[in-house]
Amino acid sequence: MKILVTGGCGYIGSHTVVDLLNDGLEVVIVDNLVNSKRDVLEKIKKITGKCVTFYEYDLCDMEKLDSIFKKESISAVIHFAGLKAVGESVSIPLKYYQNNLTGTINLLLCMQKYNVKKIIFSSSATVYGNPKTLPIKEDFPLSTTNPYGTTKLMIETILKDLYQSDNSFDIAILRYFNPIGAHKSGLLGEDPNGIPNNLMPYIVKVATGKLPVLNIFGADYKTVDGTGVRDYIHVLDLSYGHMLALKNKKTGLKIYNLGTGKGTSVLELVTMFETVNKVKINKKIVGRREGDIDACYASCSLAERELGFKCRYTLEDMCLDSYNYVKNNN
Ligand code: NAD
Ligand code: WQD
Repeated sequence: MKILVTGGCGYIGSHTVVDLLNDGLEVVIVDNLVNSKRDVLEKIKKITGKCVTFYEYDLCDMEKLDSIFKKESISAVIHFAGLKAVGESVSIPLKYYQNNLTGTINLLLCMQKYNVKKIIFSSSATVYGNPKTLPIKEDFPLSTTNPYGTTKLMIETILKDLYQSDNSFDIAILRYFNPIGAHKSGLLGEDPNGIPNNLMPYIVKVATGKLPVLNIFGADYKTVDGTGVRDYIHVLDLSYGHMLALKNKKTGLKIYNLGTGKGTSVLELVTMFETVNKVKINKKIVGRREGDIDACYASCSLAERELGFKCRYTLEDMCLDSYNYVKNNN
């Protein structure tokens, strides 16, 4: 079985490719490397001893994308490719709409043309907006607060409409909570260039001395210690969720939250990071970041019931592995 992984050189995609290869599946990656590096392919080979077929194409280039489907006998698609920086999406919304929507529509048109009916799509907890109650269930109302989130919601709608028109499609929409952590080998992980947008990459940059201080965005939220609460999930558990969705015998259009079901505050995460890695994180409380919500964590009972999904890694693992990756690659 040959799986097309879009965005397979990226953070979550690369971990999933390793699991696919270790499971004996063939993998074709399409990635334009806009937010990743080619050397990920070598690292995947080092970990698995296996090679993937790689196309450095943009999903927005329909002709090139079509040529992949023509050449390879694709059985299913895991669709990670997309731009994902919330703040940037507010500054350059058209780029986000063009890249994420055009790329996805091209992909779905190719799937239709070549009769490839199974797709797993990377959605996000951002589609729940500011939830009224917690934990968040899949049937909660949906809304977004930034163009990035809107692209995710629009793609979900496109997938629902596609399924409505042709229910031989088999679609899994996976709504990720906050992925952190890295591969145990220390070869794959996340280390964005410049100033990171997300908490864990920022903590790691402070730990390695690349940035002087962690700004904690607000300590007056209605949470355990006033700082924002999120559901951090190890990227290896997230990848495992994709394997389960791929093998799920129940067909149709399915939507699953992938998180741990546990909320962790910014201060709790920082303290855990300091304890397990024996480092001190210089930090200061600053004002709230616009658009942030108090708390967000998943109900994962649907994924547990229907996919058998259960997280295997702890917050300690997430902190150890995130730091280990960056120390190994600097
Ligand atoms: P990432 O940026 O590391 O990976 C995305 C990959 O897609 C990159 O390698 C990039 O080069 C590629 N790409 C982007 N646009 C492309 C295009 N037009 N054609 C071909 N390749 C393209 O991001 P990630 O963290 O691995 O996220 C993967 C997916 O999961 C994204 O769709 C993201 O929106 C979604 N997601 C991520 C998070 C998170 O916090 N990391 C949370 C929820 C959802
Ligand atoms: C987590 C907590 C911040 C940085 C984002 C996207 C979401 C999804 C996951 C893709 C919050 C606080 C952060 C910092 C801080 N991505 N923080 N100092 O905002 O929950 O979700 O990534 O789909 O769409 O919005 O994650 O890691 O940015 O923030 O205090 O330097 O850390 O206020 O409480 P977020 P995050």
